[in-house]
Amino acid sequence: MGGKTRRKLWSGRFSGETNRLVEVFTASLPFDARLFDHDIEGSIAHCRMLDRQGIIPPADAARIVEALGGIREEIRSGAFRFVQTDEDIHMAVERGLIERIGPVGGKVHTGRSRNDQVSTDMRLYLRGEIGDILTLVAGLQRTFLDLARREVDTILPGYTHLQKAQPVLLAHYLLAFREMLERDAQRFAECLERVNVMPLGSAALAGTSLPLDRKYTAKLLGFRALTANSMDAVSDRDFVAEFIFDAGLLMMHLSRLCEDLIIWSSGEFGFVEIADAYTTGSSIMPQKKNPDVAELVRGKTGRVYGNLVRVLTILKGLPMTYNRDLQEDKEPLFDTVDTVKASLMVLIGMAGNLGFNRQRMLEEAAKGFSTATDVAEYLVTKGVPFREAHGIVGRLVAYCIAKEKGLEEISLREFRKFYTGFDDGVYAVIPVKKAVNARVTLGGTAKREVLRQIQEAEKKTGPGPRARGTGKRQAK
Ligand code: ARG
Repeated sequence: MGGKTRRKLWSGRFSGETNRLVEVFTASLPFDARLFDHDIEGSIAHCRMLDRQGIIPPADAARIVEALGGIREEIRSGAFRFVQTDEDIHMAVERGLIERIGPVGGKVHTGRSRNDQVSTDMRLYLRGEIGDILTLVAGLQRTFLDLARREVDTILPGYTHLQKAQPVLLAHYLLAFREMLERDAQRFAECLERVNVMPLGSAALAGTSLPLDRKYTAKLLGFRALTANSMDAVSDRDFVAEFIFDAGLLMMHLSRLCEDLIIWSSGEFGFVEIADAYTTGSSIMPQKKNPDVAELVRGKTGRVYGNLVRVLTILKGLPMTYNRDLQEDKEPLFDTVDTVKASLMVLIGMAGNLGFNRQRMLEEAAKGFSTATDVAEYLVTKGVPFREAHGIVGRLVAYCIAKEKGLEEISLREFRKFYTGFDDGVYAVIPVKKAVNARVTLGGTAKREVLRQIQEAEKKTGPGPRARGTGKRQAK
């Protein structure tokens, strides 16, 4: 940014210069410059509408539109000279326009205020970013779905309270995350509907006396609707808060996945190996391979939550309508977009390259009396009330612990000490694979059900990066 100072575009009623610190303090250009493309797109559409309505002459409109295109190229290539007094991207573009084509450039701001302009820019920007995020979410869903297909026979100990609970299929676990992402995608798509509404034409807060055709501008910009109230339009940042909330929920899901991967990749669990490309080493301990990527996704979740609180707090005490506080919405929004996109991109790569230690998961799944519930349910089929069955199996487990035996090692005679009605059939329900496949409830973990879930998901999930296993660990 150059240090050149010029008179400000709004300086008419001022006789004194702006304090230097104030100039820096109030400037948003260092961060809102990223809106330049959308700002120019909005200005071009506005100008076309002004021309069509006969508010400005066609020749002026043509010069403005052409010059705006030139400025866009200059900003893209880095040739555009921003100056200290530009304040924000809207002023920078308008100043550049007037420098290029003279006072006629000042006609671009006819019937418009930066208040409706900035909200329009933000909506145009966010519309594109939500589109990108939806594509990335679908990519991660695709990765999970491909992994689920690959791991459809892999047994995983399922946990509650981080205590071994019941065996499940690893595919079932992976599909759980696909479901969470499905809801995240739905939320973003709904948010997009509310983002895709045009405030332009609301001017400063009250509308304008000039005969604008807002519908035409909206059509040019591809907005699905117009804001209905000009005061609401210039003061509303619901869409920013809503987007960050949706992003926060998505990050929470990613964070929980990462938490599992961190635990599972520890020596104590040893369920998964994260590929070298997605781990880092220690500066002192040569043996270390750390899950930093997963940890950072977990950490960055806090950052997105913080952004949500920032925006909600900025909004809570604002008198109607526009207040400069609203300029503070940009950094949390941009930071959220960047964080979410980076997290999704890195996770797509990391998840697709996970190597699962199937043998170890199977061994662990069989431990800890994980099929005790199946024995209780077997007793239910013999007519025992569930609560009693629960008590019988509970005492059986205590007996097994004392004898240091697994349920499968208990003889029928021993079983009958706890309940006389036990028969050979009990041995059929104890193996983990049997237990898994018995859970045929809709949405349960039986292979049959999981294959059905995969089929359903396949209908909803678009193509994406194919999962590539490392092959190393899976051979076991
Ligand atoms: N940079 C400002 C923002 O981001 C643009 C709107 C300024 N409007 C005003 N009346 N000062 O909110």
